[in-house]
Amino acid sequence: RYPFESRMVRYCFAVAFLALGAGGLFGVIQALHRTGIYRGFIANQDYYTILTGHGVLLVLVFTTFFIAGLFLWAVTDSLDTPVASEWTTKLWFRLMLLGTLLAGTAILGGLTDLVPVSADVLFTFYAPLAAHPIFYIGAALIIVGSWVAGINYFRTFFSWRQDNADARIPLRTFMVLVTMLMWFIATMGVAVEVVFFLIPWSLGLISQVDPLLTRTLFWFFGHPVVYFWLMPAYLVWYTILPKLAGGRLFSDGLARIVFVLFLLLSTPVGFHHQYVDPGIPEGFKFVAMTNTMFLLLPSLLTAFTVVASIEHGARQRGGTGLLGWLKALPWDNPAFSASALAGLMFAAGGFSGMINAGMNINYLVHNTLWVPGHFHLTVGTAAALTFMGISYWLVPQVTGRPLGLRSWASAQPFVWFIGMVLMSNAMHRAGLAGVPRRTAVPQYEGFEYVSAYGSYAEMRIQIALGGVLLFVSLLMFLAVMWDTYMNPKGGRLTVNSELPAALSGPEASPKVLDNLWLWAGIAVLLVVLAYGLPLASLVGDGLFDPGSAPVPAWLAGLLG
Ligand code: HEM
Repeated sequence: RYPFESRMVRYCFAVAFLALGAGGLFGVIQALHRTGIYRGFIANQDYYTILTGHGVLLVLVFTTFFIAGLFLWAVTDSLDTPVASEWTTKLWFRLMLLGTLLAGTAILGGLTDLVPVSADVLFTFYAPLAAHPIFYIGAALIIVGSWVAGINYFRTFFSWRQDNADARIPLRTFMVLVTMLMWFIATMGVAVEVVFFLIPWSLGLISQVDPLLTRTLFWFFGHPVVYFWLMPAYLVWYTILPKLAGGRLFSDGLARIVFVLFLLLSTPVGFHHQYVDPGIPEGFKFVAMTNTMFLLLPSLLTAFTVVASIEHGARQRGGTGLLGWLKALPWDNPAFSASALAGLMFAAGGFSGMINAGMNINYLVHNTLWVPGHFHLTVGTAAALTFMGISYWLVPQVTGRPLGLRSWASAQPFVWFIGMVLMSNAMHRAGLAGVPRRTAVPQYEGFEYVSAYGSYAEMRIQIALGGVLLFVSLLMFLAVMWDTYMNPKGGRLTVNSELPAALSGPEASPKVLDNLWLWAGIAVLLVVLAYGLPLASLVGDGLFDPGSAPVPAWLAGLLG
């Protein structure tokens, strides 16, 4: 219906898939290298370069481009209106692409002497690790591009609002706008870190930065970014998955409440990444832990609502029995199976996340392989597998071409699932045995990792085998996408993309939920309460050099 928007969604997805392919290749190289199964691809000292490429390409580039395209589709399709400004749409796409090229050049420069740049700073890129300025400028452009995209979604909504003054915000648009409000708040931390500290530092304009302050600004953003990856997956689970299952969403109101809770609770939790950092008061770490545990609430509400909706679909298709209805689900439809398996893995990721979040038990797993074991279930599967799966449904719509290599597509989510069960489970266990993350060679002479059951050798094989299966699954996905994009029978497909209304529709959900400014205001207030005092004290002891560079007298007076 909207050719310009469809084209931009296609472009966004194409960049996302390229990043996914390259990032996945780095992933399997790491998995083989650090397990010692095959170390011939890279030298040990290049491990950080590959690891940085893996993290940045997957969690910054793949996710941001995919989400930008998905949201563009969700807003224009659910409001049934073209995007507010085509010019602005091209602008944000180009900004993000330029940012990706700059950051990518900086990272890959570390592998060759052809260009005098490098960025072995990992996807968390806080000081004291330092990158070439073009890496930070690239990262900043990706974020600025995402802001412009967000503003354009809002403008599209406002122009729709003029003709629909009393209507409820359609659910998909509501989800996009709430996610973007969360994103605007969360990215403030990293924007300040990059623009005021890391770029001037890497350019040599300032001689040093305060690592604790920049880390704190990073983690201000570093946890909510997780919800920026997950909320689009939730959008798919709430609004498309029930239809694929043959039914309808259980409750529109519950879905809105979940998104509002994410907006409120996502940001005031960042200190849970800094439990072992000195200089952050314990009380504020405790507050962050409590807020983190509250985040379980929207996830549990989702588990209930989405499973109820799928069960409703299965029973519509003739499914019966306490669990027998599971057999009636369309497991051969890859869009369904990928999203459903992703949701299942997310449940496991939620449990290991609770361990990470506990202030005391965190010490057991901190910086061990447990941590990547956890987030390969969340962003690496809940988000990534859902995005791959829903591409099987969306790409035919935005290209007008039927899905290619159907049988490969049907098998792909299961191969991913098996690969991730092996890799992630073994990573969790290795973490409990004390194996560190982010190391090329985690074996030490005369030191044995002791495990409650199984052996370290067996875990290493599982990690490597899982990593290879994941990479095979990724190649299958990319082959399907290539075949679909390139299909000569283009432009003739009509897809039934109509999404049925919820069983308990928007008329039954409280109107106050649509008051976006109210929720945004409360979210900002919670952030001020969680971060205001600790940040003031970090700034108070010197902006760039704690202890010696004094803040202006008026600020020192204010801070006591
Ligand atoms: C880290 C493998 C897919 C995000 C790692 C590590 C391995 C790995 C072995 C641990 C490295 C270490 O700590 O030394 C793979 C394989 C994949 C894959 C084989 C599939 C082919 C993904 C996906 C995502 C992702 C889909 C997210 C969308 C990350 C991140 C890190 C990581 C953020 C941490 C990087 C860091 O510590 O700086 N991956 N991964 N991975 N992976 Fe993956």
